Amino acid sequence: MNSRLHSKVALVTGGAAGIGAAIVRRFVAEGAHVLVGDRDQPHGAALCAELGRATAFQVLDVSDADSFAAAISRTIAEWGRLDILVNNAGIALPATTVQDTSLDEFEQLVSVNLRSVFLGCKLAHPHLKATRGCVLNISSMAGVTGQERHAIYGATKGAINALTKCTAVDWGRDGIRINALCPAGVRTETLRQWMKTQPDAAGIETYLNQIHALGYCPEPAEVATVAAFLCSDEAKFITGYVMPVSGGSECGYNIHAPVSLADPHS
Ligand SMILES: NC(=O)c1ccc[n+]([C@@H]2O[C@H](COP(=O)([O-])OP(=O)(O)OC[C@H]3O[C@@H](n4cnc5c(N)ncnc54)[C@H](O)[C@@H]3O)[C@@H](O)[C@H]2O)c1
Repeated sequence: MNSRLHSKVALVTGGAAGIGAAIVRRFVAEGAHVLVGDRDQPHGAALCAELGRATAFQVLDVSDADSFAAAISRTIAEWGRLDILVNNAGIALPATTVQDTSLDEFEQLVSVNLRSVFLGCKLAHPHLKATRGCVLNISSMAGVTGQERHAIYGATKGAINALTKCTAVDWGRDGIRINALCPAGVRTETLRQWMKTQPDAAGIETYLNQIHALGYCPEPAEVATVAAFLCSDEAKFITGYVMPVSGGSECGYNIHAPVSLADPHS
């Protein structure tokens, strides 16, 4: 294992499960100290108990400014600095169209997915300026290519991508980098919940594999290793980048089309 994050101090939101937990594991394996911030106390505390003194758990609701400020303060209290903020916490449901989304559902998606990224960046800025640190936003290909029945979710992710690029310009001279990662599908609890909302269970498994050009839906660890790279000094000249970690899902016109094009050699 590399030590690309030796002595770095990170706050990972939504770090109790899924992609966030994989990022926590990877960051610790690469030498970082990590505050796991999540509204899920049992899973977050269990993860920190397993990983030991390089981690600490803090109950965090990313949509609440006071809660976010407390998580950043706790990070500074534990390890004296903040080098990396990973804005990972997010929700995907309800995944539907504009016309079928209620105003309350719209506001919930915007609050947890987008307002949180604004809050985290704003509150972390003075600390990241002091360390010449970085932010990594876990976004989605739904905010790049669009996705059927994901109008508001996709809109929050598209806005995160724009915030990432604009803020990279604003913060570059402070030496703060900010990037976004865009998975297509990743095998996590969010994905399993979404699968349960689909009528064709067998078909959705095939769909999830076939939307990726590489032919399978990845595990969270495959996203976490890219997160570690982007937050390490190996990526010190990368900022404002919205990076697909999508197995090529965005390539080709319609990779899961029901017919294949003719092979002129056959
Ligand atoms: N799984 C996928 O297929 C996929 C694809 C693209 C993007 N993403 C993005 O990756 C990120 C992580 O998703 P995941 O699949 O690992 O989800 P997950 O549901 O497995 O884990 C999300 C974690 O965030 C926490 N969380 C939710 N709301 C919170 C809040 N208000 N405050 C603090 N913590 C909160 C949950 O408790 C949970 O521990 C999300 O931003 C999601 O949009 C996921």
